Amino acid sequence: MKIRNLSEQNSVLHQFMSELRAVDVQTDRMRFRKNIERIGTLLAFEISKSLEYVPNTVLTPLGEKHSFRLAKPVVIASILRAGIPLHAGLLDVFDQAESGFISAYRAYSEDHGSFEIKVEYQAIPDLTNKILILADPMLATGRSLLACCEKLLEEMKPAELHIAAVIAAPEGIDYLQKHLPENTTLWIGEIDEALNAQNYIVPGLGDAGDLAFGPKL
Ligand code: URA
Repeated sequence: MKIRNLSEQNSVLHQFMSELRAVDVQTDRMRFRKNIERIGTLLAFEISKSLEYVPNTVLTPLGEKHSFRLAKPVVIASILRAGIPLHAGLLDVFDQAESGFISAYRAYSEDHGSFEIKVEYQAIPDLTNKILILADPMLATGRSLLACCEKLLEEMKPAELHIAAVIAAPEGIDYLQKHLPENTTLWIGEIDEALNAQNYIVPGLGDAGDLAFGPKL
């Protein structure tokens, strides 16, 4: 698996990321969603540089221009619910992409000591020979991401798999590295220190779903 960490280079990503993490800014839900969306746009632009393009001639009012267009269709699939604002940012760049949605959640044991990943709802277009971008803002253990990937790839074979995450923990990166095909690329905003006992990313930002949409029961 190839890993691309966008924060290795200076860009406005640092600004968006700082706002996203800051407790006093997080109280503004609209800004929180918007910052995830803006990071999605930056991630998508970086992904776009790695894709294949084919010649495309366009007619302007004054003549012909030999240009390029994407060689393969793009599908953006997001893990509900925290993936929704990231999805919107990715769609800003890949504006003709098809969209897919899949739900995954941690079902905790009674003593909260362990959990299993439940993948339930999915609404996914045909992925065959397309560029699949799977969006999940927080790559923590990597278990829900892998469960979703396995579900999506069960019957369909995309040409390329890209994972888009805002913040990743080293544990999640290692887990995906062990389990995903080598030709996968993981695009990350920033890599954090570790997971805590509850499998939250530290320092992270908290619960991305709750911050974007409000606490759930
Ligand atoms: N999901 C989140 O929203 N935050 C984390 O830190 C880990 C998983």
